[in-house]
Amino acid sequence: MKNISFYVDQHKDRFLEELIDLLKIPSISADSAYKKDVLHTAEVVKTRLEEAGCDHVEICETAGYPIVYGEKIIDKDLPTVLVYGHYDVQPPDPLNLWNSPPFEPVIKKTELHPEGAIFARGACDDKGQMYMHVKALEFMTKTNQLPCNVKFMIEGEEEVGSSNLAIFVKENQEKLKNDVILISDTGMIAKDVPSITTGLRGLSYVEVEVTGPNRDLHSGLYGGAVANPINILAKMIASLHDENNHITIPGFYDKVEELSKEERDEMAKAPFSLEAYKKSLDIDAVYGEAGYTTNERNSIRPTLDVNGIWGGYTGEGAKTVIASKAYAKISMRLVPHQDWENITQLFKTHFESIAPKGVKVEVKPHHGGQGYVTPIDSIGYQAASKAYFDSFGKTPIPQRSGGSIPIVSLFEQELKSKTILMGFGLDSDAIHSPNEHFGLFNYFKGIETIPLFYKYFTELSK
Ligand code: BES
Ligand code: MN
Ligand code: MN
Repeated sequence: MKNISFYVDQHKDRFLEELIDLLKIPSISADSAYKKDVLHTAEVVKTRLEEAGCDHVEICETAGYPIVYGEKIIDKDLPTVLVYGHYDVQPPDPLNLWNSPPFEPVIKKTELHPEGAIFARGACDDKGQMYMHVKALEFMTKTNQLPCNVKFMIEGEEEVGSSNLAIFVKENQEKLKNDVILISDTGMIAKDVPSITTGLRGLSYVEVEVTGPNRDLHSGLYGGAVANPINILAKMIASLHDENNHITIPGFYDKVEELSKEERDEMAKAPFSLEAYKKSLDIDAVYGEAGYTTNERNSIRPTLDVNGIWGGYTGEGAKTVIASKAYAKISMRLVPHQDWENITQLFKTHFESIAPKGVKVEVKPHHGGQGYVTPIDSIGYQAASKAYFDSFGKTPIPQRSGGSIPIVSLFEQELKSKTILMGFGLDSDAIHSPNEHFGLFNYFKGIETIPLFYKYFTELSK
């Protein structure tokens, strides 16, 4: 493809301004107070897709937030790439930990990003990465180099479980027909170490409620004589891991895929510095399941983590009280072959069974999804690999990620096509955290790499 870096360089400032405009809209799907903003973001995405060269763009209503669908079909005999991304973002709290307001994007230089990085909620996850695809399309249409058909499906509910997208996909198989699905919503190993994500973990997310006495009690008058729901909840949670940090839920590991020694050796070749890892997190030791390395623990092994825990008095000063209720939100990251609904059921049965007399336990399932692995011998993977080689000068390393995009396994099931995960984020981008950012290098490099995927995918499909 001709002149990609030239085109990107020429339009750099505008590409950045457009992304900044998108990042200013607080499209927080989890919080209904932002409903107008989420809907407005969908409209903006629609306009941008039209400007970038889609022939047809529509806002598809769902029971929740709409899906923006766009397409440019140049020849029905050519392959079709379906791009998926999301325009919703995570809530930005805790706000006091942001160095600049989350929806007032600023460009700042950092040690890792001397060229600058754009700081805002959604900068990397996923507005910045999604928008790379819009600008890649602009490049291909404006320079008459689009080699195949393209469809866009940008949703507004990824951060809250994609349940309406699942329905949309099932009901629109013909419309969404494609030869490969392309997503940039993951990361790469390092700025100078390109990688392609070959796996995602599944997820089971539950909320638990432990109820003791029917009202809050004076901790002197009643303390020691009735079960304290917070003490009990802490004990129950602590018992979910044994001394080797294995999860104790019966049947939890039954379906877990064990990797061969060869596969684990291959994984261990990816560049990784434990010292740098610890330093970046300010910890003196890593922690996790016995018998596995850090990179294995966060990708090929399932986990159980408390995401939030509350109850009782948390205000200023002290209040002597035994609360009536205690709560926790718990996520389990799953690996291929573990079925999320089955794991949710196993958790529920086990958690209820370990509750002592004197408390009542309720387990409320939230959302979940299956894990995903993609082979590296597919045309899609090969095309992505060549694209990275051209733009980075290095063959990308296949790497399984610890994160989840539950809809990806549903795509395979319903649309019968493979997903290629070309992520350009870095672990240090602080997605879902205060001070989320996306390196300008990564943003522009993504825009340069994506068109090459189209080129090679079309060539290899012949
Ligand atoms: N983009 C992330 C997932 C991700 C990030 C995968 C980095 C791999 C590397 C996505 O937006 C996300 O946050 N997914 C959620 C699950 C969802 C059901 C809320 C997650 O992984 O927690
Ligand atoms: Mn995302
Ligand atoms: Mn996310």
